[in-house]
Amino acid sequence: MNNPFHTDILEPDQPFCNRVDELRELTSHGRNGMNVVIFAPRRYGKTSLVKRVQHRLAQENICVIYAQFMRLVSVEDLVHRLAKAIISGLHEYESILDKGKRWLSHFPSIQTTFTIDPATGMPSLDVQMTKRQLDPMVALETILEEVGKFLEKENFQVCIALDEFQDIVDIKEPRVEALLREHIQRHKASYIFLGSRRRVLLDIFNNRGRPFYQSAIMMELATLPEDECVDFIVNQFAQAGKKCPADVARAIAEKVEQYPYYLQALAYRAFELCEKECTLENVTKAYEILLENERYGYQGIIQGISTGQLKLLRAIAAEEQAALTSNNFLQTHGLTLGGVQSARKFLSEQDLIEQTADKHWRIVDPVFRAWLQRAF
Ligand SMILES: Nc1ncnc2c1ncn2[C@@H]1O[C@H](COP(=O)(O)OP(=O)(O)OP(=O)(O)O)[C@@H](O)[C@H]1O
Ligand SMILES: [Mg+2]
Repeated sequence: MNNPFHTDILEPDQPFCNRVDELRELTSHGRNGMNVVIFAPRRYGKTSLVKRVQHRLAQENICVIYAQFMRLVSVEDLVHRLAKAIISGLHEYESILDKGKRWLSHFPSIQTTFTIDPATGMPSLDVQMTKRQLDPMVALETILEEVGKFLEKENFQVCIALDEFQDIVDIKEPRVEALLREHIQRHKASYIFLGSRRRVLLDIFNNRGRPFYQSAIMMELATLPEDECVDFIVNQFAQAGKKCPADVARAIAEKVEQYPYYLQALAYRAFELCEKECTLENVTKAYEILLENERYGYQGIIQGISTGQLKLLRAIAAEEQAALTSNNFLQTHGLTLGGVQSARKFLSEQDLIEQTADKHWRIVDPVFRAWLQRAF
């Protein structure tokens, strides 16, 4: 009996819980050539959802291109990732080793090579920028122009997803944003911008002074609906030959507040622990194992922040608060006004804390929150 729960990016053929409306809506925007921003905290299923949308679009003969911008380090890095994504997407659409070869002439700035992996005999694709452009901004402009001309000339639809798009900000080259916007608005393609540092991403699209201001449809991904989570867990257990009663499945969903990644991670552990039928005790034990397992990631987070930021994180984990700068809150947690203001900005830009609808600040990740409460 293979464990039916997965915590990697889900491939389009793997079981998926809900997101029916989002899938329909996004596929439709893709077909219509609209630009969309998808935003949600880490591990909510953004990438998996977009892969599914692009898979559907590909089945409708729309060419799909997917570029990952996570932790971009420079403009050169951006150009390279974009070039590789474009060539890979075209190659998937129609093999560049075969008929698709003709498209390469549209991209004189990209040099494409295939090497045969001696172990598998399979070709693997690599790209380089043809002319060593001294100025990477010129290289970026050239490639964006080439894409534009290509889209004008070739008569097929294209959907381009730019994952962790907000990381363009980290390159610290302000001209990149304006240049991307200038070209993207003219491209005959549907763009999906997705990302997890919501504040940073939303500022790109909602700040009047910035080039991408109001240039795309905004879509927020929420946690998964509880009843759908229950059905998903019950069905996954059943299909893998074990039983999970609905009340136990509900306990799993509630324990992780329907947070997509943790739903799978906790169900995975519970499935491992139980013999034939999952019990509430299994869930309790599974949660402890999950916490233990996630500990390394959480330790990495707190090692990467300052003492003041950690103090605020701990304080918010201990008590969700609307007024982080009230004297009472500052005194109780040994914080200073200036310290809270700068830490709050940093932590919310990192999407570690957020303000709920009733304006209370809280830790975004429910399992991290539980770990903080226990660890300090
Ligand atoms: N609809 C879903 N049904 C079931 N599990 C899901 C669903 N969406 C996401 N998950 C779970 O969440 C995990 C994270 O998904 P994914 O990597 O697509 O999220 P992400 O938001 O892109 O994360 P990151 O912020 O790390 O890029 C998946 O491995 C899967 O376990
Ligand atoms: Mg992702």
